[in-house]
Amino acid sequence: MKHKTALIIGITGQDGYYLAHLLKQKNYAVHGLCRRVSTDNNTIRLHTLLNDGGITLHPGDLLEPIALVRLLHTLQPDEIYNLGAQSHVGISFENPSLTAQIDALGTLHVLEAIRTADLLKKTRFYQAGSSEMFGNPQTTTQNEETPFSPVSPYGAAKVYAHHITTTYRQAYGLFACNGILFNHESPWRGENFVTRKITIGAARIASGQQDVLLLGNLDALRDWGHARDYVHAMWAMLQQAEPDDYVIATGRTATVRDFATLAFRYAGMDLEWEGGGANEIGRERKTGTVRVKVDPALLRPTDVHTLCGNSQKAQQKLGWNPHQTSLDDLVHEMLEADMKRIREAA
Ligand code: NAP
Ligand code: GDD
Repeated sequence: MKHKTALIIGITGQDGYYLAHLLKQKNYAVHGLCRRVSTDNNTIRLHTLLNDGGITLHPGDLLEPIALVRLLHTLQPDEIYNLGAQSHVGISFENPSLTAQIDALGTLHVLEAIRTADLLKKTRFYQAGSSEMFGNPQTTTQNEETPFSPVSPYGAAKVYAHHITTTYRQAYGLFACNGILFNHESPWRGENFVTRKITIGAARIASGQQDVLLLGNLDALRDWGHARDYVHAMWAMLQQAEPDDYVIATGRTATVRDFATLAFRYAGMDLEWEGGGANEIGRERKTGTVRVKVDPALLRPTDVHTLCGNSQKAQQKLGWNPHQTSLDDLVHEMLEADMKRIREAA
């Protein structure tokens, strides 16, 4: 049987790693778009997978549309996963134009490249949409019918990407799916997202390499799943008879404070919380030492307070299971991985 060919845009990121791993297991010929940088630091997550073979990297950029056309023309991929993005919400307030170019226009560039390379009838397309598109929703849980009302430049750019993907599905018959994914984390999460910042901070504090962890909004409630489970849903969307949009979420929420409490517990420190707002601190119960402080500089101009997804449609149509990894297991795995990295670097 002929193996399918997939192109992953954003293969060097967290989800790119897990998706490449999954597609390799499924015997795909896996290709990845990789930005040119002066060192090979951006392929660090992929080292083991690259050494095992079966993945081909191609230099390229979402901001270079003609080169995308050339690449698609050569590869003739069966599936394209567009995971490429400036994906940090906080940074999008500092770099709104770059975020819009990569996350919004970059998506248009891929869709136009599919059209220009005459692949509308052959290639299936996945767009990495986000729960950040909902902003601060009026409903306690969010599904595919919940209106978008973004409150960040990142969220606004992703809304454009969502609608332009739907437009190409309707206008040209492209098999194009929007995943609306809620937060998903892993030991390969970027270090400036709050979960990984917390597990690295707790691991360093436990190892005596750091005294205190500075965080922003401790009250934010997020629906946190494991990236390894979420990439299965991306793949499953492109295997259906018809293209559609799907919310992928666990349906459970925890605050940033809850996440920190769990991570510090796994690192051997029981935290108790005192004060509120910018004066809140997390103190080690046993010693009284302050381990977490709020830094007002880390608060965003506008923040999403609560997100909780309803993934019933994905459960029914894709057979996707939202309960594969508990929050405890996720935090434990992330903390253990950071402790191991610290031990190996010593
Ligand atoms: P990530 O770790 O930040 O990875 C982003 C990827 O995009 C990296 O490979 C990055 O390459 C690449 N990229 C950035 N700018 C690019 C450009 N101009 N041209 C080509 N590639 C570019 O993000 P992630 O957590 O894996 O998320 C994957 C996708 O899902 C993103 O689109 C994100 O917005 C979306 N999403 C994520 C979550 C989540 O909770 N993780 C939830 C919903 C949606 P470099 O390595 O060179 O920087
Ligand atoms: N990054 C960060 N750093 N966030 C902090 C910090 C901190 O020190 N302290 C508190 N937070 C709060 C943020 O204000 C936000 O409310 C919450 O923690 C989560 O922040 P992030 O981990 O940066 O994730 P995000 O929810 O803003 O965005 C992620 O999830 C989206 C899906 O909803 C990213 O992965 C996006 O790409 C993704 O689309």
